[in-house]
Amino acid sequence: MLYSAKVMDHFMNPRNAGVMEDADGIGEVGSAKCGDIMKIYLKIDGDIISDVSFETFGCGSAIASSSMATEMIKGQLLSRAMALTNQAVAEALDGLPANKLHCSVLAEQAVKAAIQDYYDKNQIPYDPADFAKPEEIQDGE
Ligand code: FES
Repeated sequence: MLYSAKVMDHFMNPRNAGVMEDADGIGEVGSAKCGDIMKIYLKIDGDIISDVSFETFGCGSAIASSSMATEMIKGQLLSRAMALTNQAVAEALDGLPANKLHCSVLAEQAVKAAIQDYYDKNQIPYDPADFAKPEEIQDGE
């Protein structure tokens, strides 16, 4: 079986899909590898992510990764969301095929980009190093 049951579930029934009109932070990232695009919207209340949604124009793994990532950061502290790794997203999905690992990297990057957008819009100081883009990971084929 190529995809885990969890990947299929989040692909077929994505959680938190859709545009958020009054988002406090929006992160949009694209994969140089496949051209897929992921957008994460955050509603922020103090230090808490009170709501989150996503739009993903891409493969099934990217949709499942965004769905899972939104579930993992909803209601969490911003600091928790900053610490979300692509490995954690892939693990929560019970793994991704080796050539689809970069799809979960997009989710990590999109969450971080949305937080950075929120900081920028509200002139909240931060360390740019925290938002340095990780190397585009090489999928094992
Ligand atoms: Fe590129 Fe999934 S995001 S194939």
